[in-house]
Amino acid sequence: MRVVVLISGRGSNMEALLRAGLPVEFAAVISNKAEAKGLAVARELGVETAVVNHKDYPSREAYDAKLAEVIDGYGADLVCLAGFMRILSDGFVNRYAGRMINIHPSLLPAFTGLDTHARAIAAGVKLHGCTVHYVTPELDAGPIVVQAAVPVLEDDTPDSLGARVLEQEHRIYPLAVRWIAEGRVELSADGRARVRSNAPAANAL
Ligand code: GAR
Repeated sequence: MRVVVLISGRGSNMEALLRAGLPVEFAAVISNKAEAKGLAVARELGVETAVVNHKDYPSREAYDAKLAEVIDGYGADLVCLAGFMRILSDGFVNRYAGRMINIHPSLLPAFTGLDTHARAIAAGVKLHGCTVHYVTPELDAGPIVVQAAVPVLEDDTPDSLGARVLEQEHRIYPLAVRWIAEGRVELSADGRARVRSNAPAANAL
C-alpha cells in the first residue's frame, strides 16, 4: 500500500507514522507550506517531499486540483492528513472517499475544529483525547477508526493537556494505518468504520 502524508507544520504525527515500521510504502510527504519543519524530518528518514503552496493558486478548487494531481502522481492508495491545516473542497474529499484519514486532537464528535485543548478545559470535561477518522465533506465528522482518551487534570493548561494528547496521537495514528494496511477496516453503509479482529477464524484452526 502506497501512503502519502500531508502536513502543514511540525510533522510529529508524520514522524510517528514514518518511524512505526508499518507494512506500507511512504511514497511522499506533501506540505502546503515550504517552511513546514516536518519536511526536513521526512527527507532525513528517506521519504520524498513536495510542496504545493496554496498561495500560488487563485481558488480553493484550483489548489485542491493541483494537490490531487501531485498525490495521484505518487500513486497513493491512502492519504493521511497529519496536521494539514486546510479546509478541503467537497470535490477533493469525495475523490479520496474511503482512502483518506485524519488525526484530530479531541474525542470526536466533541470539539471539532481548532483550539480543542483550551475548549476541553473550558468545558470542564474530565476526559479528552484524540481520534483517527476517515475524511468526509462534513468537518471532523467521518467514520471513526480509533480513539484514545486521557484524563484532564485540575491544573492542566492547553499545553500540558495537549502534550498528553499528542503522546496518544503518536500511538493511535500508526495503529490505524496498520489496521487499514492489514485490510481489517471496513466502512459500512451506516457510515461507521468497523475494525475486524486479527484473531484467526475458528474454522481456520
Ligand atoms: C496534531 O495535534 C493534530 O492532531 C492536529 O494538529 C497537530 C499537528 O501536529 N490536527 C488538527 O488540529 C486538525 N484539525 P504535528 O504536525 O506535530 O503532527
